[in-house]
Amino acid sequence: MIKQLLPTNSKHLQQTVTLLQNIFPWYYTSKSFTLDELKTLCEKNNVVFVYLENNQVVGIVGAQPQYGKTGWELHPLAVDKKVRGKGIATMLMKTVEDYVIEYGGIILYLGADDEHFQTSLSQSDLFEDLFSAIKNIKNLDNHPYEFYQKQGYTIVGVIPDANGFNKPDIMMAKRLINPPKA
Ligand SMILES: CC(C)(COP(=O)(O)OP(=O)(O)OC[C@H]1O[C@@H](n2cnc3c(N)ncnc32)[C@H](O)[C@@H]1OP(=O)(O)O)[C@@H](O)C(=O)NCCC(=O)NCCS
Repeated sequence: MIKQLLPTNSKHLQQTVTLLQNIFPWYYTSKSFTLDELKTLCEKNNVVFVYLENNQVVGIVGAQPQYGKTGWELHPLAVDKKVRGKGIATMLMKTVEDYVIEYGGIILYLGADDEHFQTSLSQSDLFEDLFSAIKNIKNLDNHPYEFYQKQGYTIVGVIPDANGFNKPDIMMAKRLINPPKA
């Protein structure tokens, strides 16, 4: 079951904090930092959805408007290891995309970091031949860019060394609605 996470739901907030810390321990280093960031992601025009199994949070997706209301950023996306491969992330993506469209979004984009040398983009100096490196990207160790490609996202750029030397951020985007006919 998918539910919008509200900043007042302390039980599900706490469960989501634990999930994020388990999956991204290098980023969500303390409980208070994670909770503060999570609350911000649920407030104002931002949105977070969680996937519940037996009333336990096992998946999360969030989106924030960044360019007025047209361009939204997807952040974060995570599903508990124990329940991966069952289509939960796909369902969360569909839910957040529908929400973004309803609130005026036409594009959803994201940065998928390659901090752990999971793609071929971490194997060479991207300043030398960026566009052919993108064209020939290979998934070396389960990097999620292929998950996003399956959801209709395209690699639209890369920020070389974003997370340190040879640790790029892979930018992806999806047009959510068709442009008006001329
Ligand atoms: C990426 C993630 C959210 C996918 O969750 P999930 O619930 O297992 O995904 P789904 O079951 O909906 O997968 C849909 C499809 O994508 C594929 N897929 C999922 N993760 C993939 C990966 N890392 N690499 C390649 N393909 C992947 C699945 O095999 C499936 O393919 P199919 O439709 O051909 O069977 C999950 O693996 C995760 O939480 N990873 C760690 C956190 C992370 O990387 N988040 C993204 C940060 S940018």
